[in-house]
Amino acid sequence: MTAHHPIHGGTRVYGLLGQPVAHSLSPAMHNAAFRALGLDSVYVAFPVAPEQIETAISGLAAAGVAGFNLTVPHKSAILPLLTDITPEARAVGAVNTVRCEDGKLHGTNTDGTGFLLALEHDLGIHPSGKTVLLLGAGGAGRAIAFSLLASDVERLIIANRTVERAQVLAMEFGKSFPNSRIECVGLNSVAGLEPHLLVQATPVGMGDEAIPVELERIGVSEAVVDIIYHPLETPLLKEAGRLGLPYANGIGMLLYQGVAAFRFWTGKEPPVTVMLEALMDSM
Ligand code: ATR
Repeated sequence: MTAHHPIHGGTRVYGLLGQPVAHSLSPAMHNAAFRALGLDSVYVAFPVAPEQIETAISGLAAAGVAGFNLTVPHKSAILPLLTDITPEARAVGAVNTVRCEDGKLHGTNTDGTGFLLALEHDLGIHPSGKTVLLLGAGGAGRAIAFSLLASDVERLIIANRTVERAQVLAMEFGKSFPNSRIECVGLNSVAGLEPHLLVQATPVGMGDEAIPVELERIGVSEAVVDIIYHPLETPLLKEAGRLGLPYANGIGMLLYQGVAAFRFWTGKEPPVTVMLEALMDSM
């Protein structure tokens, strides 16, 4: 059904830099989008060790690569290597998307935007005026915290195993968003907080372990989001289902960070449904 471009001399190359990258779902998602729009472009995975990131970046730029994504462990290390970055990426301290243009490297971070778009599309929720309980203050937690504050949450409660890490985040972001209340608690002090929305932004729940919170005692009134997408239903989301709460997994955020990256690279409206199908097919 879709136009198919064989790879040739003029094909534009995009890629993902990370370690590991072999099991990434991004190549399937972006190549499906290029095909659906009939764009003469291809997306590949580049395994790059931490100590090789600078060499890899200058090599890719010199070889005319059109753009790339960054994943673990390069999202912060890339910052000093870029020509410019968006204010959001600077505040979050991480870049996941770069566009190469005339030897210049423009960086942005689409994780927060991806989270907000997923929240809207999956659950119909706009965070403005709400109380949100965020579990986690790592890389993903920072991007999500920024996006929630930028969309005028009334109260953001950051719960982290290491409270000091949440406090650093609160101090940094608090200056830029004086209209939102930011509070920090330990992961073991979330009972009775009664947020509208609970967002789980740690890797806990990917293995056999479950995030150590008692959902029933938190008193969530609207919905639960877990940014994990493997498994599709973490123990936390299963519990949300048992309690009759609307919930969403991390597929939406993965999809929409890619949608926002595609828009940043091409300036075109991304084929969202095609990209979602490609993700689901390759899972
Ligand atoms: P990411 O970029 O995926 O967010 P990260 O920066 O390593 O990864 O952050 C991981 C987050 O998960 C942190 O909030 C971390 O809590 P700490 O700051 O206390 O380390 C949290 N986390 C990781 N393993 C955890 C566990 N077993 N129990 C509770 N929280 C955990």
